[in-house]
Amino acid sequence: MISVNVPGKIILFGEHAVVYGRPAIAIPVHNVQAKVTISPIKGADEGSIYLDAPNVDISAWLHDLNEGQPLREAIQLTLNALNIHEFPAFQIRISSTIPVASGMGSSAAVSVALIRAVSIHLGNPLSIEQQSAYAFEVEKLHHGTPSGIDNNVVAHEKPIFYSRGEQPQIFIPGERMVFVIADTGIASQTSQAVAGVRERWVSDQDYYEAIFDQISELTVLAKRAINTGDNSTLGSLMNQNQVLLKALGVSCPEIEKLVQCAQSAGADGSKLSGAGQGGNIIALVPPSNETEVSNELKKAGATRIIVAEVSV
Ligand code: PMV
Repeated sequence: MISVNVPGKIILFGEHAVVYGRPAIAIPVHNVQAKVTISPIKGADEGSIYLDAPNVDISAWLHDLNEGQPLREAIQLTLNALNIHEFPAFQIRISSTIPVASGMGSSAAVSVALIRAVSIHLGNPLSIEQQSAYAFEVEKLHHGTPSGIDNNVVAHEKPIFYSRGEQPQIFIPGERMVFVIADTGIASQTSQAVAGVRERWVSDQDYYEAIFDQISELTVLAKRAINTGDNSTLGSLMNQNQVLLKALGVSCPEIEKLVQCAQSAGADGSKLSGAGQGGNIIALVPPSNETEVSNELKKAGATRIIVAEVSV
C-alpha cells in the first residue's frame, strides 16, 4: 500500500497580479493535507482503477467518470506520461483536511498527491517538476488561467518566490515567520474571482496594470524583508498589499473586518490570501501574540483558525 500526503498553501504576496506575470510569494501549510492511498484490488480487470473520494461524493470506476473530470484527468495524465496502460487493478482513496474554496490550494494539493502516488505505485516516480507541471494542467480545468503558483508550492512543499513560467525559487527566511490563518466562512470560487478581475482589467487596462505594478513592487520589497528577517517591514507590506487587493475588487466586508481585527490585536500585518471575495485572511504575528490574535479573530467571526509557521 502507498500513502502520500501533500500540504495546503497560503499566498503571502502577489495573488491576482501573478496571473498577469508579476512575482508572488507562497508557503506550504503542513498542518492541513491532501492524502492519497493506493492499494491493490484482487480479482478486478487488468488496467482498471477504482476511485473513492468521500469528500466530493465520488465512489466509482475511473472509466465511469466524465472525461475532463479533474481527478480522472490527473490520473490519465500520469498514466500517459508513464506510458503504462497495463497494470493490476488498484484502488485510490482520496481524503483531505485542506479547507475547500478558501484559497488554501486544495485542488492543486489533491492533484499533486494523486500524480505522485500513482507514479510511485506504478514503480516510476515522476519528478517534483513533472508532478507540478501535470497538476498545472488539471488546475486549468478548475479555473482557466491559473498562474501555476499553487501547484508549484504544494509540489515542492517549500516556501517559494514565483513568477509565471519560471522555475520557483525556494527560500528560507532570515527570521521565523508565524501566520494565523482565519476563515471568513464565505466560500470563494477562484475561477469567479479571477474572471471578475479579468473583466475589470479588460475594461480599464491602464488602471489595473498600474495596480499590478504596485503589487509587484511590494512583492520585491517583501522578498528583501523575508531574506533579512525584517518581519515588522514585512507586516507593513502585507497591509499595503491588502489595500491594493481591495482596489482590485477582490476584498469584501468580512475580509476587511478580520484584517482590521488582526491589526488591532497586535499582528505585524494582515491581508486576504488567495482569490479573495471570501476565503481566508492571513496575519503575520509575533510568536508571543499568536494566541491573542487567534482569540480576537474568533471573536470577530472567524469560522476556523489554522496556524502556519516557516522556520529558519
Ligand atoms: O484561491 P487560490 O488558492 O486558488 O489562489 C488563487 C491565486 C490567484 O492568484 C488569484 C490565481 C492564480 O492562479 O494564481
